[in-house]
Amino acid sequence: MGIKSVCAGKGTCGKCRIVILNKEKKPASKQEQEILSPDEIDNGVRLACQQIFDRNLIIYIPSSSLSEEQKLQVRGEEKIIEVDPVCKKYFVKLKEANLEDLESDFNRIKSFLKNKYNLKVNSIDYRSLVEMPSIIRNNSWEITVTIRNDEIILIEGKDRIKNNFGLAIDLGTTKIAFLLVDLVTGKTIDSKGVMNPQVSYGEDIMSRLNFAMQSQDNANKIQKVVVAKINEVVSEL
Ligand code: FES
Repeated sequence: MGIKSVCAGKGTCGKCRIVILNKEKKPASKQEQEILSPDEIDNGVRLACQQIFDRNLIIYIPSSSLSEEQKLQVRGEEKIIEVDPVCKKYFVKLKEANLEDLESDFNRIKSFLKNKYNLKVNSIDYRSLVEMPSIIRNNSWEITVTIRNDEIILIEGKDRIKNNFGLAIDLGTTKIAFLLVDLVTGKTIDSKGVMNPQVSYGEDIMSRLNFAMQSQDNANKIQKVVVAKINEVVSEL
């Protein structure tokens, strides 16, 4: 459940009205007096963003103050397109090293890729480099490498070229759309839409920018909530 926050808690939009039901109420702040009518104030209406919840309170949240769950449409007409992903997978079958053939593993992979696929590889990601010897030997010298530009970024055992997936993320003001795409067939195999959690720092982009520009802490906060949401959804897909 979320409460509307069009002005990002500055107390100027009046969208976050709540009713405090306890008999003892703190006096309305100056900001609240500007936004709320005397009648509302007498009846316990306050702005949620102006409250410090430092005691037990019974509050009523009118439905008009709730941030509505929006309909999240992420699927559309799917067109058949030829996929040409940045990260491509290649099956590599290496010759086993022996005392007469002491070529390094990386050079062995490079030569195979050059001879079989006419590919030039110049570098390898550090993590892949560390894992490379054990993956090669645990999989009878048959591996799959994922290449981005001229760098090996992933090494897996055996033939995994059919398991190549990409994630498209559309980060919008109100929602984030996720599309998990099979990079071999080009088909979308899963999708999900979620509300952009930055909404609680302002419903429109200007309020959010304003919030972020107030301090580095605010900027980090607004960035972290969206990264956390993206990671949460990615783990569910
Ligand atoms: S008045 Fe705008 S969020 Fe409270």
